[in-house]
Amino acid sequence: MNSTRPVLVVGASGYVGSRVARGLAADGRTVLAAARSPLPDGGDGVVPVRYDTVATLPDAVRAACARAGAPLPGAVVASIGGWHKGAPLLEADPDQWSATLASHLTAHLEAARALVPLLAPGDPYVVLNGAASREAMAGSGAISVTGAGLAMLVQVLRLEAAQPNARAVRFHELVVDHAVSGDDRNQDPAQTRTPAQVVSALGELLDQAGAPAVVHV
Ligand SMILES: NC(=O)c1ccc[n+]([C@@H]2O[C@H](COP(=O)([O-])OP(=O)(O)OC[C@H]3O[C@@H](n4cnc5c(N)ncnc54)[C@H](OP(=O)(O)O)[C@@H]3O)[C@@H](O)[C@H]2O)c1
Repeated sequence: MNSTRPVLVVGASGYVGSRVARGLAADGRTVLAAARSPLPDGGDGVVPVRYDTVATLPDAVRAACARAGAPLPGAVVASIGGWHKGAPLLEADPDQWSATLASHLTAHLEAARALVPLLAPGDPYVVLNGAASREAMAGSGAISVTGAGLAMLVQVLRLEAAQPNARAVRFHELVVDHAVSGDDRNQDPAQTRTPAQVVSALGELLDQAGAPAVVHV
């Protein structure tokens, strides 16, 4: 049995999450890859965690750890959300706005509420964010607004985790400032970052207790 506490990647069915899960496992970590939709084959060291709703995620994590003979996770990477381009905000379907608030912002708070109780003081909780959080993007208005909100959410969670009697998890935001290479949903990106660059930046955040609150890659 591997007694090293695994890294839990939420959103592991996604473009970035699946690559992050594989990359962290290739670096020798045990990875719990959690998603509601089918997971790609993660390879050696990746333990799949299928769940239906966030309320069932903690039990799904416990069950997967028990099956794999692994301890509970010692770190979380939240790769929830994504990017797309559509109609301008004033013309877009109002339901799309509500859906993006739910998937790109509220889902992060719900995941943190569910998963922080599994962690110990000092454990890292890393939230991935994208360029739209810092740069207003026409056609991606809801993603820019939720991305900016997500940056603030991480700051508040970090501050509150430092209050007396709080579970002193260390929250970090990893902002990937460019398209991740190979993701065809990004048309003609000016620059790209490779999945390996994202995994390397994540590895440093996970391993360094004094890492900055916000890191850009
Ligand atoms: N792709 C890029 O080029 C790129 C570039 C820069 C930054 N990023 C950042 O990387 C992160 C992930 O992006 P991505 O491109 O990998 O997105 P993606 O391919 O669309 O995957 C997003 C994942 O989020 C999960 N998700 C969606 N709604 C959810 C909800 N309500 N609750 C829980 N999970 C939910 C989905 O998993 P399930 O529905 O299966 O649970 C899905 O696998 C984002 O923060 C994004 O800003 C991506």
